[in-house]
Amino acid sequence: GAPVEVNIGKAEPGQMIRVEWRGQPVWVVRRTPEMLASLEGLADQLRDPNSEEPQQPEYAANLYRSRKEEFFVAVGICTHLGCSPQYLPEDFGEQVEGVKAGFFCPCHGSKFDIAGRVFAGVPAPYNLVVPPHYYIDDNTILVG
Ligand code: FES
Repeated sequence: GAPVEVNIGKAEPGQMIRVEWRGQPVWVVRRTPEMLASLEGLADQLRDPNSEEPQQPEYAANLYRSRKEEFFVAVGICTHLGCSPQYLPEDFGEQVEGVKAGFFCPCHGSKFDIAGRVFAGVPAPYNLVVPPHYYIDDNTILVG
């Protein structure tokens, strides 16, 4: 499949842009400062907090799992059996107390933080996949 350009110039804080790449949904979330702050201190609740598992590009092996802190780019497919998780920018706290934003897979209850890191004790075996991508310029990401 061809690479896909995503224009992020007009993304509002908290907004998710959805595109399709190789027949898969790809998400680009512009995270708010609160969302970024929420990633601190979760490590002991997560299965692979430092993204050390091999499904990840090296630029996902950091707290934000991204090239730029603000923008999270992920394949929008649950790593369990392939359902599409819900983006819960405000009400993820019903799933994990004290964590306001994240992703929830309704199929079997997998939970991911706002960097796509999977919480321990759910069926999904690893973090949401970060697809290969880079910044063409400040307003444009190329996925693929
Ligand atoms: Fe997401 Fe099973 S497919 S929890």
